[in-house]
Amino acid sequence: MLSKKMEKALNDQIKWEYYSAYLYLSLSSYFQGLGLPGFANWMDVQFQEEQFHARRMFDYVLEKGGKVQLQGIEAPQHTWKTPLAAFQFALSHEFAVTKRINDLMDLAQKEKDHASAIFLQWFVTEQVEEEASFGDTVNKLKLVGDGGGLFMLDRELAARVFVPPVAAK
Ligand code: FEO
Repeated sequence: MLSKKMEKALNDQIKWEYYSAYLYLSLSSYFQGLGLPGFANWMDVQFQEEQFHARRMFDYVLEKGGKVQLQGIEAPQHTWKTPLAAFQFALSHEFAVTKRINDLMDLAQKEKDHASAIFLQWFVTEQVEEEASFGDTVNKLKLVGDGGGLFMLDRELAARVFVPPVAAK
């Protein structure tokens, strides 16, 4: 059983994960429009990851006998000044997601909901990886600037593929 408070908090987070997916799809479109298909691919893989996060949470709520109530998703931003500004925006978004996951964990601990705390542990770890991967590209973009290095970085980001996380199999 999930408490009503935990059920609502998880439902809110499902919406946030889908909003994240929507934001990264918007970023993928932005990069495609700039003629940077590698960057677009990287964001498209992130779009898939976020849908996976949402679905994982969706399945957990149902498994615990809770009710999933899907919410409306706001339109994401669709343009940025530069590729660096776009990635910085995405990194800030991930910081906000980390805060939300930490708040969920605090709630699970406060309610002594051990099952939810163990479930959320995966997301706590995942956020460390998410912040690191966005941060890594922000740093590289700062180094390459707007010159030819951008196209080399584009080739690197083209190699990313979606691999469903092992813990969820
Ligand atoms: Fe699902 Fe990027 O956090």
